[in-house]
Amino acid sequence: MSNGAWSGKSYLAEKDHTAESLLDIIELAQSLRKKRAAGVEEQHLIGKKIALVFEKASTRTRCAFEVAAFEQGASTTYLGPTGSHLGKEESVKDSARVLARMYDAIAYRGFAQSTVEELSTYSQRPVYNALTDEWHPTQSLADVMTMMNHSASPLTQISFVFIGDGRNNVARSLLITGAMLGMDVRLCAPKELWPDAATISLANSFAAKSGARIKVDNDPKEALSNVEFVYTDVWLSMGESKELLGQRVELLSPYQVNSELAACVGHDDWKFMHCLPALHDGATKQGVELMERFGTAAFEVTNEIFESKNSIVFDQAENRLHTIKALLISTLS
Ligand code: CP
Ligand code: NVA
Repeated sequence: MSNGAWSGKSYLAEKDHTAESLLDIIELAQSLRKKRAAGVEEQHLIGKKIALVFEKASTRTRCAFEVAAFEQGASTTYLGPTGSHLGKEESVKDSARVLARMYDAIAYRGFAQSTVEELSTYSQRPVYNALTDEWHPTQSLADVMTMMNHSASPLTQISFVFIGDGRNNVARSLLITGAMLGMDVRLCAPKELWPDAATISLANSFAAKSGARIKVDNDPKEALSNVEFVYTDVWLSMGESKELLGQRVELLSPYQVNSELAACVGHDDWKFMHCLPALHDGATKQGVELMERFGTAAFEVTNEIFESKNSIVFDQAENRLHTIKALLISTLS
């Protein structure tokens, strides 16, 4: 089983692909999800080997790659933030050529987008962006799949708002993906944290073709009005200096997803989304540290909303598995 448009391709950012090809992955993921729930797994990747090169921590993305590969008959090697030579004793270019001699594909999580691009150029293997500072393109596939599964509307009628740090990888990926797919896309952040002009202009040019409605706003009342999905993410992303935290809390507190903010939606049937991990209670080491410093352990979302009936974050997390599996099958089988 192979999907012509994807065979042998890398997935470094959504913008490098077409709306149709992103939807092909989601459609395959939907069918894989149903089959898996019925206990059916047809293996398409027997004997394939995938290197997982992660320079930042991960739970969902790493596990999704590992479980997807295992269930499809492939094997993985995990190279974590410490313990490999990549970028330290060995250049990315040299590591890419070594990994290409042993593996069929590489997933990479790290910092600069140029690193994942370099891995792709020099390995000549499919390379998957498992998150960089710029994009999180495997996340957005799962996000769209989740919205489709929780909405009665056709995709182009679905509305979502990303609220929080509008310049981060998840926000940028959602903005571009929603624009490519013709959705009602709202990004709500203080002006200091809006995406750069080039990203907004790229979203607008995709929207001109797809019919997407794009609105970048700093007013939650307007941005959340009558929306279906409210999506947020951490206020400080991996790799950012902890020194920025005080400033972020000050800037983003009015954008916390809490019951007062949720009232701006104007109906009860909205859904809460978050790529996770989320800072919503004191049950983590980081939560305890933040509690001592700021007197609260709930940052981008309150525990009340996170645990509410509106929250679909664990469906969203599960969909990382199905979409990553669909990506592996489409590129490698
Ligand atoms: N959403 C996400 O990428 O989670 P991890 O950092 O756990 O992989
Ligand atoms: N924006 C977050 C996403 C984590 C999945 C980060 O980069 O840390």
